[in-house]
Amino acid sequence: MKEISNSSLIAGTMKWGSWGAKFSKTEMSRFMEHCLSLEMNTFDCAAIYGGYTTESEFGAALRDVNANGLDIQIISKCGIEYPCDQRPIDLKYYDYTAEAIVSSVERSLNRLQVNSLDLLLLHRPSPLMSPEVISETVDVLKQSGKIKQFGVSNFSASQMVLMQTKIEVSVNQIECSLTQLAPFTDGTIDFHMTNDIATQCWSPLGSVFHGTSERESRILDVCDSLAKKYEITTNAILIAWLLNHPANLTPVLGTTNELHLTEMAKARSVVMDQLDWFRLYTASTGVNVP
Ligand SMILES: NC(=O)c1ccc[n+]([C@@H]2O[C@H](COP(=O)([O-])OP(=O)(O)OC[C@H]3O[C@@H](n4cnc5c(N)ncnc54)[C@H](OP(=O)(O)O)[C@@H]3O)[C@@H](O)[C@H]2O)c1
Repeated sequence: MKEISNSSLIAGTMKWGSWGAKFSKTEMSRFMEHCLSLEMNTFDCAAIYGGYTTESEFGAALRDVNANGLDIQIISKCGIEYPCDQRPIDLKYYDYTAEAIVSSVERSLNRLQVNSLDLLLLHRPSPLMSPEVISETVDVLKQSGKIKQFGVSNFSASQMVLMQTKIEVSVNQIECSLTQLAPFTDGTIDFHMTNDIATQCWSPLGSVFHGTSERESRILDVCDSLAKKYEITTNAILIAWLLNHPANLTPVLGTTNELHLTEMAKARSVVMDQLDWFRLYTASTGVNVP
């Protein structure tokens, strides 16, 4: 997905509203401007964030942002039907019928106050998804200019093979970090590299700051010494570790703290020694590679 993220870091909005920082409109606009000042111009949204409220808040705040001519890119996700005040249903489920996809996109466009999504992701794989229906629906959405690119999120390699029988997948947004190593070993990232699918990593800091196990302390110990060596902060070491993988991984940063964002932006200039990359990997697994 070369078009969407030329900034190598994406700003995740999941915790900007009622699921986290509860930014006021002014605070949200200011945070967006801070992202732009750090050359982060891609924003990761989803219909369900904040119980279907964060996209509206984002859209209102975006109108007050001075983008200085920068091209702002917006990702949104559809498919999760989530019981909350805005959606009084009695069960969480997934809906990838044509009607559900189209109406979710139209609601997101209205809430975000934009004419087009730069990227639409299917938020989670569903046992009931039909690649044929999804392909036809995405074609209609592309032809009408409502979305520019299409991708998936949390899909396994075999689920992507299934989708690719009918539709090209340009991105898979997955949980991937030093404490979530599965995509490196279960074939997901290999599949992305083989098929030129862009990898976006959600929760890129993993559990390092909120976990309390030996694993997190081992990682933090190594991070501390590498932070001194590379003259960046621990959070930036965790991001640099992802950026130094050959798959061109794109971390989706969830911080709502301007200082933390500034710190992590510095990861982009770090060329990490291979040995240091493995020091962190080994701290995470707790055992030497075979
Ligand atoms: N596709 C999906 O299914 C999916 C699922 C989950 C998330 N996402 C996307 O991924 C984005 C990021 O996810 P995330 O928020 O879980 O991941 P994250 O970026 O790994 O974690 C953010 C958390 O780390 C904290 N943090 C950052 N630097 C810190 C430091 N130096 N010390 C202590 N804490 C620190 C932040 O607190 P501060 O705010 O205080 O910095 C924040 O609570 C979301 O916003 C969303 O866009 C997608």
